[in-house]
Amino acid sequence: MPSPARRRRSGEGARPSGSTALILAGRAFVRGRLQSVEIAIGDDGRIQSVGKVRSGGPRRDVGDAVILPAAVDLHVHLRDPGGPAEAETIATGTVGAALGGVTLVGEMPNTRPPVTSAEAWEEKARRVEGRAAVDVLLYGSPTVPRALPDLARHVGGFKLYLSPTTAIETPVRPAELPDLWRRLSEYRLPISVHAEDPALFRTEPPPVDPEGWNQHRPVDSEMSALRWLTEAPRPLRLNAAHVTTAEGVRLLREAGLCFEATPHHLLLSERSGSDARHKVNPPLRSEVERRGLWDAFRRGEIPVLASDHAPHPGDSKGLPFDRAPSGVPGVETMLPLMLAKARNGELDLGLLMVAACDRPARWLGQPVGRIAPGHRANLLVVDFTQRSTVVGRALRSPCGWSPFEGWEVIRPREHYRDGVRIVEAGEFVGTTTGRVVRPEFAPGEGDDEGSPTGGPVPGRSGI
Ligand code: NCD
Ligand code: ZN
Ligand code: ZN
Repeated sequence: MPSPARRRRSGEGARPSGSTALILAGRAFVRGRLQSVEIAIGDDGRIQSVGKVRSGGPRRDVGDAVILPAAVDLHVHLRDPGGPAEAETIATGTVGAALGGVTLVGEMPNTRPPVTSAEAWEEKARRVEGRAAVDVLLYGSPTVPRALPDLARHVGGFKLYLSPTTAIETPVRPAELPDLWRRLSEYRLPISVHAEDPALFRTEPPPVDPEGWNQHRPVDSEMSALRWLTEAPRPLRLNAAHVTTAEGVRLLREAGLCFEATPHHLLLSERSGSDARHKVNPPLRSEVERRGLWDAFRRGEIPVLASDHAPHPGDSKGLPFDRAPSGVPGVETMLPLMLAKARNGELDLGLLMVAACDRPARWLGQPVGRIAPGHRANLLVVDFTQRSTVVGRALRSPCGWSPFEGWEVIRPREHYRDGVRIVEAGEFVGTTTGRVVRPEFAPGEGDDEGSPTGGPVPGRSGI
């Protein structure tokens, strides 16, 4: 069977195959702007066609709400297997994703045991089947050379840690990189990298709050490791995880690499909170750095928005600062926070859709993230008049807290997965039929608008 990318390119995706299961009608985000359309969805869960008037199936009009592609979060930690289950599991985290408008998550390998072998990957995949509310792409860690060829046949991507962080005690050393790049270049899989250079971490003074954490793991250490990435041979399919500064954005754009920024680095600074609930790697930066990153995002200079959803139990975050773990939850709030920013005119909806839906989907080789024929009908219905606020206790994650407590959000009213409603009136009504997915196409393939770092930068697309 041809890949979806090939079907799309040959134009076959535009031809209805099978019968029409549903026609969704309303203002939808199509080709970079909101327009009144009807979306025909086939009984295979794919979008058959998008046009003025469709026929041949039951029709649902979304009224004053808008239809958006669902988001892809390429960076989450669901703590499964190994826990702590009081923080998250695949079962809870994927429901949180569904409620937050995220239809596919990229699950990182720093679980216990870490995903360094095909056996560990299979153990994790078994936990997805029958328990996940949305699809899951499972990354592997390529640090055990003899396990790598077998691992590469299973994983959806790789994750490299260049500094210590949660559950990572021995990061990859810079001297090991050339050999690792060479071995990874055989697989054409996405490779995401946690880029901080531990040689530039400062030990004095001991960090006791988020400002101290920022001094301890300073911007220089992040820049140093990002430079290593710019020296990696092409065409590796790299993504720099959680970039925190405008300087980093400039460096990576010049190098033409894909990279992500998180809602917490875009919206919070080292002074947003004084305890370990604001301890995260890389640290929250100064307000000046934060603003620089936010402005870059608003200009469309950051390819991907990702949550780095890293929940920890509330108790552990109450430990003395130096003993508390790093990481904040975010998969359920990522898109709702940004939809509120778009509603308030602080962020262009088109730029948000590209960064939260289309580019991460392309980078992971998934036929989602766009309302276009041949793509899966993974869609959201959003009523922009329905504002609410974040209440940590009310989020699906058992960790029960959020660094965005009290922030304004707009949550999706409905979420369709393969044309089937899994969220209705803001409540999860779906089943646990989420699947393990792997890239279906490489960058460039199925990519009519450019590289994963480039792509369309739509103009103003008012809500
Ligand atoms: C992450 C975690 O807790 O797994 N923590 C974090 O501070 N971001 C790991 C990581 O992404 O570095
Ligand atoms: Zn990281
Ligand atoms: Zn992470």
